[in-house]
Amino acid sequence: MNTLFAANWKMHKTTAEARQTAAELKGLVSGKLKPGREVMILPPFTALAPVAGALGGAANFLLGAQNFYPQKQGAFTGEVSPGMLLDVGVSFALTGHSERRHVLGETDAVVGAKTAFGLESGLGVILCVGEKLDERKAGNLEAVLERQIRAGLAGVPKDIAPERLALAYEPVWAIGTGEVAGPKEILEAHAFVRRMLVEFFGASASEMRILYGGSVKPDNASEIIALDNVDGVLVGGASLKADEFSRIVLA
Ligand code: 13P
Repeated sequence: MNTLFAANWKMHKTTAEARQTAAELKGLVSGKLKPGREVMILPPFTALAPVAGALGGAANFLLGAQNFYPQKQGAFTGEVSPGMLLDVGVSFALTGHSERRHVLGETDAVVGAKTAFGLESGLGVILCVGEKLDERKAGNLEAVLERQIRAGLAGVPKDIAPERLALAYEPVWAIGTGEVAGPKEILEAHAFVRRMLVEFFGASASEMRILYGGSVKPDNASEIIALDNVDGVLVGGASLKADEFSRIVLA
């Protein structure tokens, strides 16, 4: 399985800025990527096609989407379907990102419906899970992860190809705060996620990637990537500048 370095640009960048950052990143990374690594850019919807153009099908670069609506088409004003994403070259999309859960109000059931529908439509899916600070302090880390994972995977076929589904552990208290989870906290959470995946999928769970996200920076990336059960990183703030993200990807 390839280690994944995913850049979640959230609601940042015009088309021109996105094109320029993607082209710059490709220039900085191409030919230097360690074997077994791949890079994914997840720009806002408006910049998907420009970023696809800037990447020009470069080897080991993937295009991802931050969101989609779990229907083929129809009267869903403001929404975008998996088929529309596939049409512009997207191969993976996020579900359950904490900002969609806690800012946009997505429930566990909605996240589950999206995960199942995205996979069924041909997208790869990165299902994001993570606890809030008060949940961790109350000793509920595993209960929260278990609830989110059970609901998130409820409609996923047991025989799904393992490379098409990834989990991302993103503790809410470490997102955009500069507060990175320590190695012990990451190891514990990722081991728990792996156990849940094994329960759901059996042997193929060992081939599913578990990403860490939350204040990943050039100076902590290599230590995080080296941890057991960490198969990649999902990066927000430090992915916005090509130079900074390239130092994470090449770490
Ligand atoms: P930061 O890297 O800015 O903490 O964001 C993490 C994240 O939410 C990635 O999806």
